[in-house]
Amino acid sequence: MTPSPQLGGSHGGQLGGRTALVTGAAHGIGLAYARGLAHEGARVVMADIDTPGLATAMKQLSDEGLEVVDAAVDVADPESVKRCREAVERRVARVDILVNNAAVFATVPMSRAGYQELSVDEWDLMMAVNLRGAWLMARAFVPAMQARGYGKVINISSGTALKGSASRIHYVTSKAGIIGFTKTLAREVGGDGVGVNCIAPGSTLSEAELDDDVVALRTSAVASRAIQRVQLPDDLVGTVVFFASSASDFITGQTLVVDGGACMH
Ligand SMILES: NC(=O)c1ccc[n+]([C@@H]2O[C@H](COP(=O)([O-])OP(=O)(O)OC[C@H]3O[C@@H](n4cnc5c(N)ncnc54)[C@H](O)[C@@H]3O)[C@@H](O)[C@H]2O)c1
Repeated sequence: MTPSPQLGGSHGGQLGGRTALVTGAAHGIGLAYARGLAHEGARVVMADIDTPGLATAMKQLSDEGLEVVDAAVDVADPESVKRCREAVERRVARVDILVNNAAVFATVPMSRAGYQELSVDEWDLMMAVNLRGAWLMARAFVPAMQARGYGKVINISSGTALKGSASRIHYVTSKAGIIGFTKTLAREVGGDGVGVNCIAPGSTLSEAELDDDVVALRTSAVASRAIQRVQLPDDLVGTVVFFASSASDFITGQTLVVDGGACMH
């Protein structure tokens, strides 16, 4: 874990004085969340399994003058999560905002195959990272929020959980689970001042390598939207900042779809 030179506490923005931990922050949308939260004054712990990718992402944000710390973690592994919590406690003392964004998706790729073709190993890995990971991270970081009487958990689902999406039943099932996880954790910790909400992004052009297949995939989602354009990681940042800030203090257990109006529920 390498602290950025700026460590020490910015107090500007909506999140001044707060510390956020974003899992899956080395790439794509997680990196955009980390940058957006840091821009609002939060000190941000960037956690990821991809340590070289994390070092690059961390340097990028540090070079932008943002206050970030990196933490290696495999969210699916209880021992790794425990080590991460100990390291984070040593470095930043407290976490006020937990963003459960890490997933088997693009960087750690999911298989796209029919329900009969997926292997048991693929199913189990998906559940271990996308669902168990969120629970293990909550178990590690939420009790201290409860003890302090304030905190925010933001889980990341997917619009596919509300609409269904063929050829990745393991992924969609895990993302549907995140919605129930959000509601239940919200009920368990609401009395201690901890809000738990969920973002369901639409198909987002989050890949670093923009080959023709990726662009075609993300562009194919445009026709179903009220706002007809490709969705980018930055389109999700305002929502994560809102759920992380005191502006959302009386909102909990909710899932907000951010997809340009493809799925209206
Ligand atoms: N991009 C989209 O179209 C889209 C749509 C809906 C929801 N989402 C969700 O948004 C989130 C971010 O997606 P993205 O597009 O940036 O994908 P991504 O694959 O680029 O990002 C996921 C991040 O999680 C990390 N990760 C994977 N396994 C991990 C583990 N075991 N422990 C710790 N970190 C791990 C990866 O290294 C990566 O940095 C995911 O939860 C994804 O399911 C994405």
